[in-house]
Amino acid sequence: MIVVAHRGASAYAPENTLSAMCEARRRGADMAELDVRQTADGEFVVMHDPTLRRTTDAPERFPERRPWRVADFTLAEIQTLEAGSWYSPEFAGEPVPTLREALQTLKANGLGALVELKVDRKDPLAARRMARCLAEDPHWNRTSGERPRLIVQSFDWVTMRELGRGFPETPVAVLGMARRRYGLRRVARYAAQVHPHYLRVSEPYVRAAHTHGLAVFSWTVNTAAAIRRVIGNGVDGVISDYPDRVAEHMAVA
Ligand code: G3P
Repeated sequence: MIVVAHRGASAYAPENTLSAMCEARRRGADMAELDVRQTADGEFVVMHDPTLRRTTDAPERFPERRPWRVADFTLAEIQTLEAGSWYSPEFAGEPVPTLREALQTLKANGLGALVELKVDRKDPLAARRMARCLAEDPHWNRTSGERPRLIVQSFDWVTMRELGRGFPETPVAVLGMARRRYGLRRVARYAAQVHPHYLRVSEPYVRAAHTHGLAVFSWTVNTAAAIRRVIGNGVDGVISDYPDRVAEHMAVA
């Protein structure tokens, strides 16, 4: 079973920063999950929210740019922001990473990448741009080994279908619940995995997904009871803010 650090090890460092990616390794994760969004000039930056308000100093630095949408800022502007102080003064000066920088850090730490593509509006270029960015480093191409080094996931299933069909070297996953009867079969035509919320998962659901050749990762699994529950259901991966807790439970399971 694969342990995935949610937004990096986000219980221990500011989410989606390079520090959180490095912390993921120290906390026993196999992969780190990171959220990516496109800037005004079409670059991918690592950011969960649609705006820069919660996790950066954009409101102080650019007071006139309310509501501070990521999509309204250029990469150069975002690279001047600070994304660690909101979490703790210990992380002051932490930048907003680009997808490329985050992937380099994960590679250097021997971790896999679970890239969540956030798509605000229908964007016909999103899949192609993502594939182009991932193709820059052959390290992230699909391997014949059992564990993919990189998976792209999204709540936007249309974009995942475009990516999965158009760029088969990139394994994709759909976030949410594909129905057991027909949904799993349809999703299996283009995706390698399904990623439902942990409260929706059951043992029969995991079995059904496996029947269609789909691996199951579940999120966001933080408490001991939740971790025990998903391990009992037989999921293939657990996405958690506390990868160390998941690794400990696996050791005794
Ligand atoms: O990895 C799945 C999980 O990240 C989905 O929810 O809101 O954290 O993107 P969210």
